[in-house]
Amino acid sequence: MVPWSHMTKREAAERIKNLRKTITYHRYLYHVLDRQGISDAVLDSLKHELKMLEDQFPDLITLDSPTQRVAGEVLDKFEKVRHAVPMLSLEDVFSEDEFSSWVGRIQKIAGIAGSSTSGDFPEVELPAIFAELKFDGLAVSLIYEKGIFVKGATRGDGKIGEDVTQNLKTIESIPLRLELHRAFSGRLSPYAENVQRGLASGRIEVRGEAIITKKTFDAINAAQKKKGEKLYANPRNLAAGSIRQLDPAITASRHLDFFAYDLVTDFGQKTHSEEHDLLGLLGFKSDGQAKRLPDARAVFKFHGSIAKKREKLAYHVDGIVVQIDDNALFQKLGVVGKAPRGAVAFKFAPEEATTRVLDIRLQVGRTGVLTPVAHLEPVRIGGVVISRATLHNMDEIQRLGVKVGDTIVVGRAGDVIPDVRAVLKDLRTGKEKAFRMPKKCPVCEGVVKRNEDEVAYRCTNKNCPALQREGLYHFVSKKAFDIDGLGPKTIDVLLDQGLIQDAADLFDLIQGDLVPLRRFGEKSASNLLNAIQMQKQVSLPRFLYALGILHVGEENALLLTKYISTHYSRLATRYKLSKIAARIEGLTENDLKHIDGVGDKVAESIHSWFHDKYNLAFLNKLDRAGITVTVPKFHPGYTGTGFRFQGQTFIFTGELENMTRDEAKEKVRLLGGNVSESVSKKTSYVVAGENPGSKFEKAKKLGVKTITETDFLKLLQIM
Ligand code: IVH
Repeated sequence: MVPWSHMTKREAAERIKNLRKTITYHRYLYHVLDRQGISDAVLDSLKHELKMLEDQFPDLITLDSPTQRVAGEVLDKFEKVRHAVPMLSLEDVFSEDEFSSWVGRIQKIAGIAGSSTSGDFPEVELPAIFAELKFDGLAVSLIYEKGIFVKGATRGDGKIGEDVTQNLKTIESIPLRLELHRAFSGRLSPYAENVQRGLASGRIEVRGEAIITKKTFDAINAAQKKKGEKLYANPRNLAAGSIRQLDPAITASRHLDFFAYDLVTDFGQKTHSEEHDLLGLLGFKSDGQAKRLPDARAVFKFHGSIAKKREKLAYHVDGIVVQIDDNALFQKLGVVGKAPRGAVAFKFAPEEATTRVLDIRLQVGRTGVLTPVAHLEPVRIGGVVISRATLHNMDEIQRLGVKVGDTIVVGRAGDVIPDVRAVLKDLRTGKEKAFRMPKKCPVCEGVVKRNEDEVAYRCTNKNCPALQREGLYHFVSKKAFDIDGLGPKTIDVLLDQGLIQDAADLFDLIQGDLVPLRRFGEKSASNLLNAIQMQKQVSLPRFLYALGILHVGEENALLLTKYISTHYSRLATRYKLSKIAARIEGLTENDLKHIDGVGDKVAESIHSWFHDKYNLAFLNKLDRAGITVTVPKFHPGYTGTGFRFQGQTFIFTGELENMTRDEAKEKVRLLGGNVSESVSKKTSYVVAGENPGSKFEKAKKLGVKTITETDFLKLLQIM
């Protein structure tokens, strides 16, 4: 499959055409008929893809593209109302990166933050930002004449909406008559006269969102259920449907609510914050959490805190609205397409998105079960980028009808692994390929069978490397790769969720693979990824031990290392894994038998391990993952006494002459010892180089043995 970023213009054109058709259809269902075919998140995701493709190929943008149009069409049943000022919509951003790009664009246009001060906005210093909740309801405009509510309209197509005055009158949070609820005080007093005049004789327009609270929604649905009638999909749809009822009595029964967010009338207010204050004074309910923020970082914090508590809010919010607080600048920034440039909707990470299936591959689990896993064009869901989703089994593939190349809906609920939820078959090109269960295991070519009484297909080869979970536990263990925080339990989860097949896959894991799993949060995921990356450089004995070659334990790993070291390497040099592997592969059984201390059985085992094609493929994979191996130098007289430093703790202080501090530490670890940074009674040796520091003093105080670098080299037996 071709990733989006590599599409040719022709491929993009076809994709764009299909996307527009699908989006247009669902928008009609949603905005005109108030029915929902696919979730908001899915529709947003398709729109997002379309926008990205259009950004990439701007000459494929057409006037009728959904990206160029204000949502909604006017229904015939209501009188039409022309909006004096168009009701615009907002551009969406879904991530901190996208938000920062918006900030960057604003700053560039406004000529601030390091760019030249010439241009249209030389007076601007730093655009303060106003952030508020983005309510998930229906936008309406309210017109007051001489302070009396005379007309209310929906947004419609942005220019012409529907007259829903009678219905809006049923909403108690919409004042029917405006009055000043609190005395003008402090900074709002300059506008007092204008507002008084507006109330007495002029026209005032206020905009906001008509919504239904979660509690009301649940009560309405409970009543529906009792009556045996169909349940409403969500509060947004119900609010929209309720506002567009021909019979206001029905609207009244839905107990709508209203939040004001825009004062269209100019009373001389200079900022959006002042507008919110004025709305409050005029008797409107507006978002109590809204506030002016100094910079992008504060916006991220606000966004995060609302995202955290959104479940607990009384109504649905699907993001925050962020705009330039200064009205003059906001106006000057103008409008792009259908949205003001000076504002964005910073949406919450959706739990569903669309993407494409690049491939379907099999993952072989502990018990030999073959699980089909969809490899996806990476997509952001719930704040993380995912690239794989489970398809569970063949029955599920058939139920979904999913093929390689399909556009799918992938979802993530809570902390479970992402799964494929639906296939958008309208978007097919005809080039999609069906997936078939192979007759042979993709890992070992063993026979694949399905027992009559189960859904799963299994590899029947008991020696299939994929079954050797134990080998993986061993690979990451203390004396092997020693990956901090990666024990059998985590390995089990990674294997079972299809994130890894063998040890080499560990090194390709990304944040988005781990975060959805129950055991991980953002922090613990990045800790583990760091721990894995840190151990990519491994010493040869540890590496050989990690491979789990029959009869090759710590001792034989050291003997083989010593042989390689004395015949091949310089002191503590790093090698690409492939180089070392080729060297060992090149040893004959006879060479191996002649290694001091290595018996015939061991030699045979090493030789055959390094001549097995699966093992070689595995080494290759590790090499590609970037594993490098350090080969320590041994004193020729070393006869192999195993991990001689086992249970001993070393501390280094001062400068060493013959090796770096890291090399010295590695040598200690290589012989089974530990390295620590702080001296305690348990410390075995403090190795003092030139100009030792406070650790040396402390060692003397505690009576810990201090040795010179020369003593240390003797201990290592390399002198
Ligand atoms: S400001 C230029 N503020 O979001 C449009 N809109 O995606 C000015 N919405 O049509 C809108 N809460 O229906 C604004 N606090 C808020 C909002 C909000 C919800 C809706 C509104 C608008 C849509 C744009």
